[in-house]
Amino acid sequence: MTRIGWYGLGSMGLAMATNLQKHLAKKSILSSLLYSNRTMTRGDPLRALGGTPETSFSKLVSECGIIFTMVSNDTVLQDLITSVTDSNQSLKDKIFVDCSTVHPETVGLTAAKLKEKQADFLAAPVFGGNPIAVDGKLVFAIGGPKRASDIVKPLIQDVMGRKVIDCGEDAKKSALLKIAGNIITVNLMEAVGEAQVFAEKTCLGTGAMEELIGEAFGPVAGGYSKRLTTGAYAPPLDSRPGFGVSLAIKDANHAFAMAKESNAELPGLKVATDNMVAARKYAGECLDSSSMYGVLRQKAGLEFWNEKSRQG
Ligand SMILES: NC(=O)c1ccc[n+]([C@@H]2O[C@H](COP(=O)([O-])OP(=O)(O)OC[C@H]3O[C@@H](n4cnc5c(N)ncnc54)[C@H](OP(=O)(O)O)[C@@H]3O)[C@@H](O)[C@H]2O)c1
Repeated sequence: MTRIGWYGLGSMGLAMATNLQKHLAKKSILSSLLYSNRTMTRGDPLRALGGTPETSFSKLVSECGIIFTMVSNDTVLQDLITSVTDSNQSLKDKIFVDCSTVHPETVGLTAAKLKEKQADFLAAPVFGGNPIAVDGKLVFAIGGPKRASDIVKPLIQDVMGRKVIDCGEDAKKSALLKIAGNIITVNLMEAVGEAQVFAEKTCLGTGAMEELIGEAFGPVAGGYSKRLTTGAYAPPLDSRPGFGVSLAIKDANHAFAMAKESNAELPGLKVATDNMVAARKYAGECLDSSSMYGVLRQKAGLEFWNEKSRQG
């Protein structure tokens, strides 16, 4: 059995890699997960579970047959992949699986670069936030060569995810599905934020509103409401947001670029994105994507911060 590597231990990556390492440890025939990250100390919980640290991405790639990446954006992914495709190391028969949210064009370019080196590339972006990643219940959209996805799916299904949507052999399709899904995510966060500001201003109360959101609109919408009422939309400055505001703005910008090319309109997403941009301008980088709520609060004459969020 080939060794498995993991690069990227952010809010999502650490939770996902943790579930993968636990799975490998259970199947004692497999070697431990070899992991790497820009900030290596983020991997300490993985090491405690038996994972093995490796500071060099290139060494990790040379030791592993399957390499997962979960990084912030297109540039970080491209830099990582180029660092190995531009070197002399052999990548023959290796499988690279990227779970980040990136533009389909980035996926196409990355797959082509790796194909030249006789390696396969799978795009496997995920739906669900950090608590769902911790529970191993993410939804994956996988795309790329069937030979590779057949090998990788058992490392995902019931390990890191509850469902794998197979988007076929064209890896760009799964990236496109992810960007399309995030149009709903961001619009839903805006809708929940608006409803919660309305509930507060009309003295209906955010507790009753939250109960209704969870019951009538499902656990995803209920989870977004909790990000507001627990203050997680603006977490303490020394913490990592669940889904950083700049990551959601990146995803929205990918959607706008593709919508423009296809002559489609995304007016709701525009409203929500403008509010996220305004939130970041007011309160800085350390914000969750649901922080459009702070701006909606300001527009209604309230403070950006609520009683549970950080206060400045
Ligand atoms: N959070 C969510 O709810 C969610 C849900 C679905 C999909 N996604 C997508 O999944 C991806 C990861 O999200 P996340 O929330 O885990 O992000 P995150 O917490 O910000 O983590 C980003 C990861 O990328 C690494 N990184 C950032 N800049 C780098 C650079 N210049 N060089 C090398 N490594 C770098 C970070 O390393 P350090 O640890 O050293 O900073 C970290 O490992 C993103 O594409 C995001 O859009 C997120």
